[in-house]
Amino acid sequence: MCGIVGYVGTRETIPILLDGLERLEYRGYDSAGIACIDPAEKNIRLFKAKGKIADLKSILNGFKSPARIGIGHTRWATHGVPSTINAHPHLGAKGRIAVVHNGIVENYRELKSELERKGIQFKSETDTEVIAQLIEYYDRGNLSKAVRRAAMRFEGYLAFVALSRDEPNYLVALKRSNPLVIGIGKGEHFVASDVSAILPYTKQVIYLDDEELVEVRAKEIQITNLKSQKKVTKKPCTIKWSIDQAQKGGYPDFMLKEIYEQPHVLQEILRKRISKSHQIEFDTLGQEASRHLKSAKKICFVSCGTAYHAGMVGQYMFEEFAHLSATAIVASEFRYSDPILGKGDLVILITQSGETADTLAALREAKEKGAFTLAVVNVVGSTIAREADAVVYTHAGSEIGVASTKAYTAQLMTLALLAFYTGKLRGKISRADFRRLILEAKEIPNQVKKTLEYAKGVNQVAKLLYQKRNFLYLGRGYNFPSALEGSLKLKEITYAHAHGYAAGEMKHGPIALIDDTQPVICLIPESKTYVKMLSNIEEIRAREGIVIAIATYGDRNIGRLSSHVVHIPSQREVFSPILTAIPLQILAYQIAVLNSRDVDKPRNLAKSVTVE
Ligand code: G6P
Repeated sequence: MCGIVGYVGTRETIPILLDGLERLEYRGYDSAGIACIDPAEKNIRLFKAKGKIADLKSILNGFKSPARIGIGHTRWATHGVPSTINAHPHLGAKGRIAVVHNGIVENYRELKSELERKGIQFKSETDTEVIAQLIEYYDRGNLSKAVRRAAMRFEGYLAFVALSRDEPNYLVALKRSNPLVIGIGKGEHFVASDVSAILPYTKQVIYLDDEELVEVRAKEIQITNLKSQKKVTKKPCTIKWSIDQAQKGGYPDFMLKEIYEQPHVLQEILRKRISKSHQIEFDTLGQEASRHLKSAKKICFVSCGTAYHAGMVGQYMFEEFAHLSATAIVASEFRYSDPILGKGDLVILITQSGETADTLAALREAKEKGAFTLAVVNVVGSTIAREADAVVYTHAGSEIGVASTKAYTAQLMTLALLAFYTGKLRGKISRADFRRLILEAKEIPNQVKKTLEYAKGVNQVAKLLYQKRNFLYLGRGYNFPSALEGSLKLKEITYAHAHGYAAGEMKHGPIALIDDTQPVICLIPESKTYVKMLSNIEEIRAREGIVIAIATYGDRNIGRLSSHVVHIPSQREVFSPILTAIPLQILAYQIAVLNSRDVDKPRNLAKSVTVE
């Protein structure tokens, strides 16, 4: 949550900060700001705006500054409404220190009262202002010392960067749980919460670890441990992906581009994971993880949002193919439920960003309890990828649209392969079945292509339904999570209410909603529960509900029961959630567009949620 960028070097700073912030906007976009030091004025210049980076740019109106050092921020509000006053950077009362921050200072109330008792006045409602005020209070002409002293007093997950008017040649940054990366250039350095902010300028980066404090000067950086003050030496690593991968490539929105990238992403996953001899290979898994997959008595999938739905599908997959007792739980519940876990248990954390605060906290909890942790992550080098005992990457490429699409289907394919791999390790899948599964998996990218073709008909459905404010999504078995995911997509980007339900549960409540105005999206691919699902649809029709069916091509029963049918190709049930996801994504997308919503940046959401 929230994007941070900082620069010190020889170039004009404001354009670099704005450029970086634009690429970080997915992390939050309710307000933004920058602070820089104009060498002639020896003062911190502050520019802030409520809204998106475009609003900040229009306030700056092309303003040119000789500043060669500065910090910037794009915000996702935690404490205090989105407003110019609450936007970062925040200053100390004397205007000597500026700070941008990501995360939460959990004890900010106590610290704020303490500083207020000393006569310091606060301007904003944010916890971040406490950071700036406390640093300024401690600062006696050495920013680094003041930051160190202040940082020892903050509780919670956070990362921040500070700038001092009196020492305009360096930035000081601290990482505690929330991500921070240093970009290394020639005679210049960058700080950012995500490499995408600094990729056009450098591919050489150093990821900070928790409790590391870094002094960032144009020509050098110095990393020390916060408490021990010991120097930390770290080798830079080279980022291999290019910024072009993060461009829209001719599509009107990132979300649509990412939807259409799915056949390619799935193809790449299969290319990486399936060897010539039709074996499944996970390069980063390691022997210890394989041992755990083989011997685990139970397995728990922990994740948030869309990744939670992938975990639910994972549960069905591992039960069917690895005969392993599995549960899926949202990370925020797992964490505080005092889960019964110990040695021999396996916890699989699923996350696109690898930074979600609840998932990270769950990972730490699981490790503390002695469970083996395996992370299924998209962003390489992210905190969860680094902290888990083992990692499997989903290789979806960078996903910019806030509503997850390709990252989800990449998670599903990766989990399917992991389930087959585990089933084989545990002796639950015969050689012949294993080979059949692999061959069928290899068909999926083409089937997704076909599904994208079939989904052209979704246009008409969207036109029929876009003014509705209330949707019901129903599915069974593997496609119960799909119903939840479809309804989440719709909520996220259209702001209409949508509820996902297990179709068999409809009679226990949701059926009361059905009348001739109620759209019901029914997932009915070929499956073990096909006939049961058909009966549920009959029940909806009997009450005149508007049935939109997502069904297998060639299904002869479904036409007479539905207002519209959207087809998917025939496939084995385990792969069906990958295919049903496609029309659901497109339906949400088209309804959002017809309602003129900002598809890539829906209100109140953020791509990476680094607060609990
Ligand atoms: C946010 C995003 C969702 C995402 C969830 C979990 O809410 O808007 O799209 O599914 O976080 O994120 P993760 O990065 O852990 O998969």
